[in-house]
Amino acid sequence: MVGLDLVPRLLAVVQQLTAQHGRAIEIVAADATDTKLSANSFDLVHERTLLNVTNPGAVVAEMMRLARSGDIVALQEPDSSKLGLRSAAAGVGAAAR
Ligand SMILES: C[S@@+](CC[C@H](N)C(=O)[O-])C[C@H]1O[C@@H](n2cnc3c(N)ncnc32)[C@H](O)[C@@H]1O
Repeated sequence: MVGLDLVPRLLAVVQQLTAQHGRAIEIVAADATDTKLSANSFDLVHERTLLNVTNPGAVVAEMMRLARSGDIVALQEPDSSKLGLRSAAAGVGAAAR
């Protein structure tokens, strides 16, 4: 299993958490549009939250390149109509609606 993000600081947290839970995963700091990982080498390629990515189409193209033919590319995006924000600070909840 490989976990990938652009930001090494976040990956250090992932490394710590996976070690705590006894999981060994390969951690890669790379741009998801050009991972340098081998083509056709994964049976599942999954992303969560492309909303923050500058070029989501290029990420999906890279995911398709990484997945073996016939295997799974999974996209997981939040439903922002269901997001809520609660705060005691005056006006914060209203500003989010
Ligand atoms: C909303 S967070 C999701 C974090 C984590 N994947 C999760 O599911 O909880 C979005 C992440 O996308 C990363 N990101 C944004 N653009 C990227 C890119 N071009 N390549 C790789 N990671 C990227 C950010 O560093 C950030 O950690």
